[in-house]
Amino acid sequence: MSRNLSAADIILRIENVNRTYYDNSDNHVEALSNINLNVYRGEFLSIIGSSGCGKTTLLRLIAGLDKPESGSLILDGEQITGPDPERGYVFQHGGLFQWLTVEKNIATGLKARHVYRENKEKVKNFIELIGLNGFEKAFPHQISGGMAQRVAIARALINNPKLLLLDEPMGALDSFTRADIQDKLLQLHRENNTTMILVTHDVDEAIYLSDRVVIMTPRPGKISEIMEIGLPHPRHRGGSEFLSIRRSILEKLQLASAMPQPEYNI
Ligand SMILES: Nc1ncnc2c1ncn2[C@@H]1O[C@H](COP(=O)(O)OP(=O)(O)OP(=O)(O)O)[C@@H](O)[C@H]1O
Ligand SMILES: [Mg+2]
Repeated sequence: MSRNLSAADIILRIENVNRTYYDNSDNHVEALSNINLNVYRGEFLSIIGSSGCGKTTLLRLIAGLDKPESGSLILDGEQITGPDPERGYVFQHGGLFQWLTVEKNIATGLKARHVYRENKEKVKNFIELIGLNGFEKAFPHQISGGMAQRVAIARALINNPKLLLLDEPMGALDSFTRADIQDKLLQLHRENNTTMILVTHDVDEAIYLSDRVVIMTPRPGKISEIMEIGLPHPRHRGGSEFLSIRRSILEKLQLASAMPQPEYNI
């Protein structure tokens, strides 16, 4: 495996996880079916699959924001039973506190843990790292979408989490801003050695960033394949190896979505 990731050093074990959503009129949606996945310490892992295949559901289970119906999620030997600052989460739809400034948004994690006073400098460092000097006192509506996403990433990283969970953090951004944030993420990953799990629709983004890419099938979400991306960094999006991996993932995604899918049970 690339970047000296060792199979012996598994940070997260996801075992036989199932999640079905029920409503109050006997309808149900089987969102995840028998998910088994090991995540290595320090790894950059991406999860890719069509809309509605259960990616956010899986990320929320890892965050402890939701519970599986059966199966278990074990982080460093301990069952995940609820949210914890050791797992940072960047939400699919931003999720900044609109009534707080950039610096206050970033500081929320520290304040929640009552360690803000001794870590004020850290907030400054993060603002610098994400290139938002001069915008400390701006409110979310006064900054661009790309800046807001960088604030959300800094807010999640400031607690130095073991795991950073990213739910399509670049979904709504133009390709230049995306590329900029992707490089920032790689830099943060390199410097902090945080294990990162990224949900994305974007095959190129997954290949550019990841050590491994998990391909999911549509409803009910299952893992259809895990691909190792052995390319050295920095990766070249136009390179022949990159393009051949891209072709192969696109084929696998197509195959995955061609599998028979049970419909909603109405
Ligand atoms: N709270 C909920 N109640 C009922 N059904 C839900 C709930 N959350 C998700 N679902 C259903 O579970 C399935 C998986 O949803 P999920 O949000 O995990 O998909 P996703 O892969 O993140 O999709 P997208 O790429 O569009 O964000 C979908 O069919 C969705 O309608
Ligand atoms: Mg989602």
